[in-house]
Amino acid sequence: MKIFLDTANIEEIKKACETGLIDGVTTNPSLLSQEASDPIKHIKEIAEIVKGPVSAEVTAIKSDEMITQAKLLSEISPYVVVKIPMTEEGIKATKELSKNGIKVNVTLIFSPSQALLAMKAGAYYISPFIGRVDDISYDGLKLIKDICEIKRNYGFETEILAASIRHPVHFYESAKIGVDIVTLPPKIFWQLFKHPLTDTGLQKFLDDWNLKFKNGLTKEKDRK
Ligand code: G3P
Repeated sequence: MKIFLDTANIEEIKKACETGLIDGVTTNPSLLSQEASDPIKHIKEIAEIVKGPVSAEVTAIKSDEMITQAKLLSEISPYVVVKIPMTEEGIKATKELSKNGIKVNVTLIFSPSQALLAMKAGAYYISPFIGRVDDISYDGLKLIKDICEIKRNYGFETEILAASIRHPVHFYESAKIGVDIVTLPPKIFWQLFKHPLTDTGLQKFLDDWNLKFKNGLTKEKDRK
């Protein structure tokens, strides 16, 4: 499974990439507006850091303008994947762009029907938003299950990119269902490493060791 970081914050991206576990980045107009002074330069900088897929979203509403913006975004870097919203105009644009070899991430997906239409239109990725479905008391993970079943039934090549992740349970439950990618806010990415029993277990190991061997693991010649 691929892990993407859901942020436009350069420092957070650099720090997470140091783990060697980050395969890509997703942004959206809200995330970019929080970080960028020049969106085009900012997206380029992210792509140069990640050297993997970077989703950048159009802001047009009509398909012809979406296509124009998509071509501009895709010229920023070969790593850029263009994000297009799941609307009638967005699907028209997705169909045209995917036909011309531009990778599209169809975003703001909240139903299996929307997912099926986006996959049929040739989306490279689709982004169902788990957290925002949960936020209104529906079952976001069931949406993921339904979409994965539809993808398997028809052999769509589109990759399912689980988005709007609110906590680690969304991450591993999406993995159990079998999504291709999960995109995580940095805070949640770092939560994945943590378990209190790991911390207490490691401390006990080190306490027991240091009680007996003061110098830790060092060559005999270096021991005082
Ligand atoms: O960037 C797409 C998606 O992950 C954002 O989700 O609900 O955290 O704004 P949300």
